[in-house]
Amino acid sequence: MQIEKIFENNRDWVADKLNKDVNYFSELADGQNPEVLYIGCSDSRVTAEELMGAKPGEAFVYRNIANMVSNLDLSAMSVINYAVKFLKVKHIIVCGHYNCGGVKAAMQGNDLGILNPWLRSIRDVYRLHKAELKDITDEEEKYRRLVEVNVQEQCLNVLKTAEVQVAYRAGELTVHGWVFDIHTGNLIDLKIDFPALIEGIREIYRLE
Ligand code: CO
Repeated sequence: MQIEKIFENNRDWVADKLNKDVNYFSELADGQNPEVLYIGCSDSRVTAEELMGAKPGEAFVYRNIANMVSNLDLSAMSVINYAVKFLKVKHIIVCGHYNCGGVKAAMQGNDLGILNPWLRSIRDVYRLHKAELKDITDEEEKYRRLVEVNVQEQCLNVLKTAEVQVAYRAGELTVHGWVFDIHTGNLIDLKIDFPALIEGIREIYRLE
């Protein structure tokens, strides 16, 4: 993609928006009131807004390699805090995707330098779910399942933050674990049973 082409696209986009509504950008500048925080992978094929049909102003978005929610990631923690406390989003979505390069790399033993600590967190997910994963003999199926359980663990990491716990207990916030199936374009709701999962970890992570 050429840089000049990007600016050309931008000019076309501005013209198109203004053609439909002359006040489009002045209204956009007034502020944002998104109801959704989307946490997804940086993968160029998994475009948050486009796959959800979200317009500017509708989704607060945070993306990194393999849609991780690490408590040592100041950026992720700041995004969640701001989205919950100030934007008062009603939904937090963690969206993984099949064929995720980050998850794939974590299934292999290569030394990838600066990526090692990041991928280590995915290896930790593998260890947590080893009892289930070790019985899956088909490598492709195991890969898909690791993508799914990684989404589940990152949703729990969202729920471990104090501000989310407050909003969740007040019934003001719902957490969703999704996977984008890159082969079909479909979004899949993993329908994670959060009450049951929270019950199992509450004594350790509950914050007052
Ligand atoms: Co990915």
